[in-house]
Amino acid sequence: MSADTTQYTTTARLIHWTMAILVIGMIPVGFLMVQKGLDRSFQNFLFISHKNIGVLLLILIFVRLFNRWRSPPALHPVPMAPLQKLAAHMTHVGLYGLLLMMPLAGYIRVRAGGFPIESLDALGIPALVPRSEALAEAAKMVHFYGSYAIAALIVMHIGAACFHGLFLKDGVFSRMWPPVGKKV
Ligand code: HEM
Repeated sequence: MSADTTQYTTTARLIHWTMAILVIGMIPVGFLMVQKGLDRSFQNFLFISHKNIGVLLLILIFVRLFNRWRSPPALHPVPMAPLQKLAAHMTHVGLYGLLLMMPLAGYIRVRAGGFPIESLDALGIPALVPRSEALAEAAKMVHFYGSYAIAALIVMHIGAACFHGLFLKDGVFSRMWPPVGKKV
């Protein structure tokens, strides 16, 4: 196995770390912006940022999936126990699913509820879902429960990454860090 096949490309690393920063920011902002008693203009700022960054994340997850299809993920630098492999695989599948589901549910919640998404409105992109209170309410529930699920998976993912990077030192962490690698 050549050393190169165990490393992620710079493109994959940049997408990974950009999304990581944005998603990790989206969760506290999402919880904060729905709190009662916030200053109105601060709350508006949080809502507008959350919606627009969420749409950017929706685009980025498709870019990421396309890039993953075009250049398959790096091979593991060391053999892993089957259970560990399964846990890593399930976490990653769950994260991809939620990274797709969360922005989609957010989008549907807002558009079906008849609310603006400022960046898309500025570009003249119309709502792609019909106005429906029932649909908006269902999407809101999905978004709400999904936020706990994605937070839990992110904690597991960071925990596993730290375990590899700090204790096992088996090269798994350095496949993705730093954000710029030797492979394009
Ligand atoms: C990965 C992307 C996203 C993450 C991690 C995320 C996370 C969250 C979290 C943690 C909350 C607070 C829990 C709740 O009340 O539901 C929230 C609320 C909310 N999010 Fe997101 N969000 C994402 C994408 C989006 C997008 C793309 C939109 C819309 C374009 C959106 C719109 C909303 C709205 C309107 C709320 C307020 C709750 C409600 O009334 O529905 N989110 N989000």
